[in-house]
Amino acid sequence: MTRETAIRWVAKPLVFASALIPLAWVAWAAVSSGLGPTGPLGANPIEYINRFLGDWTIRFLLLALAVTPVRGITGWTPLIRFRRMIGLFAFFYACMHVSSYIGLDQFFDWTEIWKDIDKRNYITVGMATFVLLAPLAATSTKGMIKRLGGKRWTRLHKLIYVAGIMACLHFYMMRKGVQLEPIIYASICAVLLGYRVAAHLKKKARAGKAENPDRAGAGAGAGHR
Ligand code: HEM
Repeated sequence: MTRETAIRWVAKPLVFASALIPLAWVAWAAVSSGLGPTGPLGANPIEYINRFLGDWTIRFLLLALAVTPVRGITGWTPLIRFRRMIGLFAFFYACMHVSSYIGLDQFFDWTEIWKDIDKRNYITVGMATFVLLAPLAATSTKGMIKRLGGKRWTRLHKLIYVAGIMACLHFYMMRKGVQLEPIIYASICAVLLGYRVAAHLKKKARAGKAENPDRAGAGAGAGHR
């Protein structure tokens, strides 16, 4: 089997199926317990479902952000082939999270939902994060990359960094007070974004040296003195 066949017909379907396991589990738990307070979802199943889906949204978002650094560190280039799928799963779980909030938590009471978005800051931030993710999902196809052009597409998709920061902020604000879990997620996000800043600075320094080899040589000479 070639590497291409293995990625396309084994690894990708496996990643796809694995990404659906959390949703399948929570759907099974909700249906089997009839959303009752004594089932596996605890005393408040609706809150459990909403939080569970929020957790998986932020996990997939951070996983998508982790692809480039992990590829850079390990040198395992095929990893990039999974980035789009993982990013789309982040958006998919965000849709499920928002749907559970609108349908199960608020019973489609749009006036109440609007008030909530306006009043509770963490919901405003969550909504803004969701709005940022939507154009990224909509432009994730090869056709859209072609239509936008590589440069514009790359610039637009930098919004994922802002979305990552805002998702962590939404989590931190929602939990109220200093709690370990949101801090862990925010730290992971900081490391993943920090890696990019460091890589960017390194690239710039290298480009500067290539543009000005005399100065680079002089600098190196000065160092030896
Ligand atoms: C893509 C963006 C989003 C991400 C990554 C995200 C993630 C999260 C996370 C991690 C939690 C906490 C779960 C826990 O405590 O374990 C949470 C809670 C919550 N999110 Fe989001 N969220 C997003 C967007 C939204 C949006 C758009 C809304 C509503 C319009 C929303 C409404 C809520 C609510 C109501 C809770 C707390 C529920 C409760 O009090 O139990 N989120 N979210």
